[in-house]
Amino acid sequence: MSARDPIAHVRAETCFVDDIPEPQGTLYAAVFGSPVAHGVVCVLDANAATAAPGVAAVFTAGDIPGENQVGSMVADQPLLAADRVRYVGQPLAIVVADTPTRAHQALENITLTIDKRPAVFDPRQAAENGDLIGLPRTIAMGNVDAAWSQCATIVSGRVDSGGQEHLYLETQAALAIPRPCDSMHIFSATQSPSSVQRTVARVLACPMHAIEVEVQRVGGAFGGKEDQATTWAALAALAAHRLQRPVKLVLDRHADMQMTGKRHPYTSDYRLGLDADGRFLAFQATYYQNAGAVADLSTAVLERSLFHATNSYAIANVRVTGMCCRTHLPPFTAFRGFGAPQAMVVIEAAIVAAAETLNVPAWTLQQKNLLHGGDAFPFGMRMQGDTPQRSFDAAVSRFHVRSRLADIERRNAASTFVKRGLAVMPVCFGIAFTTTMLNQAGALVHVFVDGSVSVSTAAVEIGQGVATKLRRMVATALGIDPTRIRIENTSTARVANMSPTAASSAADLNGAAVRLACGTLLQRLKTVAAGIQGVPAGQVTIRDGRVWIDDAPSPLVWDALVQAAHRQRVDLSAHAFYATPKLHYDRQREKGRPFAYHVCGTAVVEARLDALRGTASIESVEIVHDAGRSLDPLVDRGQVEGAVVQGIGWTILEELMVDPDGRLLTDTLSTYKVPDLDFSPTTIEVVFLDDTADPGAVMASKAVGEPPLMYGIGAYFAIRAAIRAVRDVPAERIRLPLTHARILQLLEGE
Ligand code: HPA
Ligand code: MOS
Repeated sequence: MSARDPIAHVRAETCFVDDIPEPQGTLYAAVFGSPVAHGVVCVLDANAATAAPGVAAVFTAGDIPGENQVGSMVADQPLLAADRVRYVGQPLAIVVADTPTRAHQALENITLTIDKRPAVFDPRQAAENGDLIGLPRTIAMGNVDAAWSQCATIVSGRVDSGGQEHLYLETQAALAIPRPCDSMHIFSATQSPSSVQRTVARVLACPMHAIEVEVQRVGGAFGGKEDQATTWAALAALAAHRLQRPVKLVLDRHADMQMTGKRHPYTSDYRLGLDADGRFLAFQATYYQNAGAVADLSTAVLERSLFHATNSYAIANVRVTGMCCRTHLPPFTAFRGFGAPQAMVVIEAAIVAAAETLNVPAWTLQQKNLLHGGDAFPFGMRMQGDTPQRSFDAAVSRFHVRSRLADIERRNAASTFVKRGLAVMPVCFGIAFTTTMLNQAGALVHVFVDGSVSVSTAAVEIGQGVATKLRRMVATALGIDPTRIRIENTSTARVANMSPTAASSAADLNGAAVRLACGTLLQRLKTVAAGIQGVPAGQVTIRDGRVWIDDAPSPLVWDALVQAAHRQRVDLSAHAFYATPKLHYDRQREKGRPFAYHVCGTAVVEARLDALRGTASIESVEIVHDAGRSLDPLVDRGQVEGAVVQGIGWTILEELMVDPDGRLLTDTLSTYKVPDLDFSPTTIEVVFLDDTADPGAVMASKAVGEPPLMYGIGAYFAIRAAIRAVRDVPAERIRLPLTHARILQLLEGE
């Protein structure tokens, strides 16, 4: 992990788990997954597989020395299914062999007798059956029931949004290496090394200190490795433990797509009431989340949906209810945005329905109802600052929304087949883990006697540039050149009890901890410098790799200072801990302050529709975004651009299809389309808002990972606007993704 990381990445020189040189005697594991969505296991016969060429062993649930359990929030997920299977692809056994090919071949020799049971894939059906994970949750403010009678206009409808495959570049992977004295070293492609450590210890019935989980650099994750990297690491560890040999498990793309969970599909009902001036008086929604077969992170995802039900809008009367519906599909999981996109698309659909009913431009309704500083969210927190309006107004004027809409109307009238559409998409996203206890981080900083610095945190570099940001923070804090600083791999032996690298918060949390550790070191070094220079410590600063006394450079350079400190037996290592202040949430009252701050912005999205072919493309996405004082404008721009494209992929391109038996049909890159360069908008312009309020995060910066994904929602409504230039399509039933096939159906008046 260096500043050169992106370059190495593009050259395929980056070292993923599968690229780590293997220890001698490494064996390879392949996973046998359930062929049916729901059934009772009668016989699992692995004798032929065990006898197959090159096979060292086959392991099933009975071989687990500890607890057969990997559920992180709810204990409902066996590592290896024993008596019942709940989704196609659910792991039942692993084969370990001397080559990956032989391990895969031996999978064919496993025979399974299974008693099939009825399976449910529709969340509304699951809800009707009462098959929920946890209880439904409701967040409310004001009095919705009383407000309807005051509304001049009420719209209602249903929104269905699809799942989304993470398609990280590096598939799920782990390498488990037994070490002397009953310990184990695991390389895992995970966002959450401590979760892997904790779960492996549980599965192997050993103390956590016996397990070191190390993460070098993960080849993309997007939430798909927040919870779901654990299973594969635990399986590799189980085999390594039983055989006392290194075991590597790397899912091939096909298995990864079939066996791992994706973004949660939602189906939701809404009702929105407006007064005669177009002000939102009341909003009500019910979200049926398709959770899949086990809890995974579903309850936390649902919570974030509820917290984002009203997006960037102030609505006095709100009641939103959500439930996690258990179905017989692979457990759906974290995906960039973590439930917020699924909720935001509902309120946006409601606004568009209202705008079409009232025959006014949607953006005028949006603008009229934006949050102001001090406005309350339904969960009790208040909006700080004015970025929803500032970004909205800036986007409308800077990107000429009024004149372009008029222009589009003229051009659409003059063109038979080519139609254009434009949508404005504001986003207001809460920063912090909604699970309050996760908002903590530790950091360990060593200064070596040659003056070089090593930094360990809980942050996992997944391609989001956190290492680059951390390096910059440390360089600024210590006043030395970034080249003197190494951001280490992430290891559970150096930093304990880590929260996952998730919730857009890795730079915020780990950066704050690192800055605290640097502060401690700096204090010690300044004392040493003051002694050498014979001045009070208060007059000493360190910058440009040198000691300064009252703004005048001294001859004492960083390396000499460090060596002097070492000679004086001053501790050159510091550990620090950070917990985000002022966060609290009361689950009983459903009120509190779950977020440290909100990140807001506004996008203007323009689409071009070919109404003859039923194809559409996104021409431009222009964004005014608040990144605070950016820690690295290039990294942040990359995050915004990538998130936008991923968001557009979710709303108009990527479609998961499952056959009537619950088997994923779109399990290859030829059947599951993801955005490529050709699909991406010709223009993505990102303008960063300046002079916005310091949220109290690191160096006045703001988190950037997830919020821009939701700008992509504008793509759906831009294409919808273009379709409406051809024919009226009702707004009561919105379905994502708006694929070409779906566009054709709408154009045909389906
Ligand atoms: N975001 C991401 N991951 C999480 C969260 C969250 O808010 N809560 C628990 N895990
Ligand atoms: Mo993320 S979806 O918080 O890994």
